[in-house]
Amino acid sequence: MTGSPPRDDPESGKPLHVGQLNLPAEDAFHKAFGELFDRRFFANHGPLEQQLDRELALRFGTRHAVSVVNATVALMLALRALDLQGEVIVPAFTFPATVQAVDWAGLKPVFCDVDPHSQTLTAQTVAPRIGPATAAILGVHVWGRACDPDGLAELSRRHGLKLLFDAAHAVGAGFRGRPIGGFGDAEVFSFHATKILNGVEGGCIATNDDDLAARLRRMRSFHEADDGVTRLYRLNAKMSEAQAAMALLGLRDLDGLIGQNRRRYERYRQELDGIPGVRFVDYAGDEASNYQFIVLSVEPAASPLSRDMLLDRLRSRQILARRYFHPGMHRTPPYCDDGIPDLPVTERLCSSLIQLPTGQLVTDRDIETICAVIREAAGMDGAAAPKGSA
Ligand SMILES: Cc1ncc(COP(=O)(O)O)c(C=O)c1O
Repeated sequence: MTGSPPRDDPESGKPLHVGQLNLPAEDAFHKAFGELFDRRFFANHGPLEQQLDRELALRFGTRHAVSVVNATVALMLALRALDLQGEVIVPAFTFPATVQAVDWAGLKPVFCDVDPHSQTLTAQTVAPRIGPATAAILGVHVWGRACDPDGLAELSRRHGLKLLFDAAHAVGAGFRGRPIGGFGDAEVFSFHATKILNGVEGGCIATNDDDLAARLRRMRSFHEADDGVTRLYRLNAKMSEAQAAMALLGLRDLDGLIGQNRRRYERYRQELDGIPGVRFVDYAGDEASNYQFIVLSVEPAASPLSRDMLLDRLRSRQILARRYFHPGMHRTPPYCDDGIPDLPVTERLCSSLIQLPTGQLVTDRDIETICAVIREAAGMDGAAAPKGSA
């Protein structure tokens, strides 16, 4: 592979996607993969996977990080390793993997509404959903925003529940001076190619629980039990050395990527300041975001636009903005088969949020083009972008 990676460009008619696509420097990539070929060690817990587990644990400030093939499988393993029975409280405002992993682990998802500000579960939204069959709470750090870790820890302690977090969006994010990774019984991260840490595919479970980590290490493959015999359910969930090589390169660049994401986020805010009814997801003072997502809400009552009109307008210009998450999981089969629970905040978010392109390959010029389309759609044609920061 030579030259620069191809870049999507709305001005040249090529689509501009929402996913991050953060790539390592090409020479570093060639060096790492050259070493991989020389070593001839491609799978089965090679040196790079072991190094990644150590570096991730350091980054997350946890005793353990257990890398696996992706975050969906990591969620399935974590739920199964906790040896639960009964119900798990989850948001419907999430990616399908969060909820489906609960089913795969033989448990029943119970949908819970989210807080209108944080867009996550909180102790207040979860408490009324706890019943005699509840075994665990599975919160999502949506957009990398901490899902009330202290409130939910206290609530789960009081009720004797396990507490897990889907931290697929939250690599490099923090809350009140602590990195996301060490909250609850375990936290699950994604290194999918469109996430801030790109392992092409990949995921990991971070935990401070030694027994849980030991169980997970045995469950993630058929190669890690001394005698090959264990009572635990097992899975081929191993991360390959090629994935680990990519993720290690990404980890080295992570702080730089967060800084660049933040600059893009601020640029978007500056360009879109003052459009009635268009609001950004705000990050409160005690949150350290990775700015992995640019998420806007288009409030129909206050805006001449609807979210879906804006989406169509952007898409007609090859700007592949997304409704994320849409629909809520409670409205998808098989979950809607028994009726649709009343989740008013989730409904509002699913009908008003839009996600815009960001990541290493999105330039300032792309952002100007995208924002000009949005201003035009909002009837602010010809309006110059406001000066100064948002
Ligand atoms: C909230 C959430 N959880 C889980 C996943 C699944 O991650 P993976 O693709 O690594 O399986 C995603 C993927 O986008 C996600 O957004």
